[in-house]
This record gives sequence, structure tokens and C-alpha cells, in this order.
Amino acid sequence: MAELKVTAIKEGTVIDHIPAGKGLKVIEILHLNRPNGGALLLASNVHSKKLGKKDIVKVEGRFLSEEEVNKIALIAPTATVNIVRDYKVSEKFKVEVPDEITGILRCANPNCVSNHEYTVSKFYVVSREPLKVRCHYCERTMEEDEILRNL
Ligand code: CTP
Repeated sequence: MAELKVTAIKEGTVIDHIPAGKGLKVIEILHLNRPNGGALLLASNVHSKKLGKKDIVKVEGRFLSEEEVNKIALIAPTATVNIVRDYKVSEKFKVEVPDEITGILRCANPNCVSNHEYTVSKFYVVSREPLKVRCHYCERTMEEDEILRNL
């Protein structure tokens, strides 16, 4: 299959190997689409040796915090993050779903104490594929759809 060329970026972040169809969600959850932000590129459903099909998100002039990388892991557990400086990949790592998720996810149970007190939310990962987490406070389990709505 002919290789699809997507413009290289000078400085910024390339999130590669995103499951096909999840690229927009990554953009949305990380608020990468800002009116005064740098160039943003989304390639969707492109051929991948490893995944069959994948999405790629490139964002110029933007680097990610640890919290943002953890959010990507919950949406796109196969993703690779590439940090680009002066047109070269200066750092590359795979995202990882941690055993415990603190702070980045709201509990879907409206009565959970974590939604009412000054408490940092905390979840345990009970299954990675499909993703399933359990709230430390109320024991409510949340699956992929609910996780995506509460990030
Ligand atoms: N990339 C980019 N701009 C650059 C350099 C790289 O947009 N100046 C992108 C590439 O298009 C690719 C990703 O960053 O999507 C990773 O680049 P590279 O490590 O060179 O590609 P591969 O070796 O194919 O990556 P992997 O082994 O992770 O599949």
C-alpha cells in the first residue's frame, strides 16, 4: 500500500498509533483545538502495520503534562507520544494505563463522596481490555463509555 504523507511538524507533539476513530476524542479531551493555538493535524483511518488502521494527531507548539498523557492512555491505550524539536523526534514513549487513576476522572455516581467533598478522585483499574475501573470511595465500576464521558 502506498504510504500516506502527512506534513511533518517543526516543534510540538505527535500522538501516533491512536485506535482508528479516537483521534477527535483525544483532541476534544485535551482541548488541542484552540483558536490561538498552533497548527493541529488529524489523520484518521490511515494504514498501520501494527493496528491495521489508526489515527494520528499532530499539534504544533504544544507539549503535554503527565496528567494529559494519562488521559490519552484512557482513551487510546495503544498510543505513542513523540516529542518533536527542530523537525526531529527527540523523545518517544508509549502511554500506559496506570494501576490507579487519581484526579483525572470524575465518578459517575452523583452521590459519591468524591463529588461532594474536597476529595481527589481515585479509581483502581480492574480490567484493561476492555477498560474497567472501580471507584475507591463508592466502589462504583465504570466502563469505557462512562469513563469517556467523565474525563
Ligand atoms: N513526525 C512529524 N514531524 C516530524 C517528525 C516526525 O510529524 N518533524 C511524525 C511522523 O510522521 C510519525 C511520528 O512523528 O507519525 C513518529 O515519527 P518517527 O519516529 O520518525 O516515525 P516511525 O519510526 O514510523 O514511528 P514508530 O516507530 O513509532 O511507528
